[in-house]
Amino acid sequence: MSASPSHRSPSPAVAPSTAPLIPGHAGPAGAAARPPTAPAPLTAGPAAGRDPGSAVAVAARLRAAGCVFAEDEASLILATATTPADVAAMVDRRAAGLPLEHVLGWAEFRGLRVAVDPGVFVPRRRTEFLVDQAVTLTAPDAVILDLCCGSGALGVALAVTARRAELHAADIDPAAVACARRNVAAVAARLAGPARVYEGDLYAPLPPTLRGRVDVLLANAPYVPTDAIDLLPAEARLHEARMAFDGGADGLAVLRRVAAGAPLWLRAGGHLLFETSERQASQAVETVERAGLRARVATSDEYSATVVIATRPPS
Ligand SMILES: C[S@@+](CC[C@H](N)C(=O)[O-])C[C@H]1O[C@@H](n2cnc3c(N)ncnc32)[C@H](O)[C@@H]1O
Repeated sequence: MSASPSHRSPSPAVAPSTAPLIPGHAGPAGAAARPPTAPAPLTAGPAAGRDPGSAVAVAARLRAAGCVFAEDEASLILATATTPADVAAMVDRRAAGLPLEHVLGWAEFRGLRVAVDPGVFVPRRRTEFLVDQAVTLTAPDAVILDLCCGSGALGVALAVTARRAELHAADIDPAAVACARRNVAAVAARLAGPARVYEGDLYAPLPPTLRGRVDVLLANAPYVPTDAIDLLPAEARLHEARMAFDGGADGLAVLRRVAAGAPLWLRAGGHLLFETSERQASQAVETVERAGLRARVATSDEYSATVVIATRPPS
């Protein structure tokens, strides 16, 4: 098992600042105070290591399996599991190499705990930068479209910052759609407008009534060149859907289709934001400009992130 990949939080034990997104999911970090079932500090006495469910024993097992942040992961597993059998099963799955977020069933994203089902793309901490950029462009009553939504983390995180927002999200992967529906449903009551998730290829499943109305289009589309997929960390390669990464020969195949459709769905002055690699950025900008949008690039050293922000010119 590899260390936490660089695109994830270096320490998964960062406490979210808001309530859990998953109703009834009493995870470790959703509350300001530790829940009563929270694990003891990892300084337990000698007996602790002999109990296979103790924090020390769980951390030792994870460390032996190659987890670099074994103590943090042990705390999260112990606080998420509801029974000793649950702890054992989670430790087994993590030791077998499943991403921590798939083991827990959730990921932290911009202070929210987002449900992540097996096989569904785990929202990366890096992508918070994209949402940060979007927040500055989003009015309280914005119409938000999260294309290639995966778990729906981006759209949900943006929509909760804009209380009168209308949220639409779509993905081609039925497992992602089911997961996004749960996450969107969990925040729907906090939004004034409708909140819907559609299944299908890019814009194809969207209601025609959305055309020309989208203020902010988030599209964290696949952008890994096909040949580079084999170089991804095993956790990603083996446990997230290939279609979540595969951006075709140059990594821009899906983006070209997103860009081509964007002018039809964005309102004049509306924005398309997507993540890209530093190397692809200039080609990505050319792609959206050829589609009639004006583009700029925002980068963050802190997040190691490159985001293209493209705007449909006022007509
Ligand atoms: C890199 S993941 C991003 C997921 C999510 N936006 C996030 O950042 O956590 C890309 C997502 O695009 C979806 N996808 C790939 N091709 C698609 C297509 N043609 N139409 C719709 N969704 C697609 C995949 O199923 C996957 O969920």
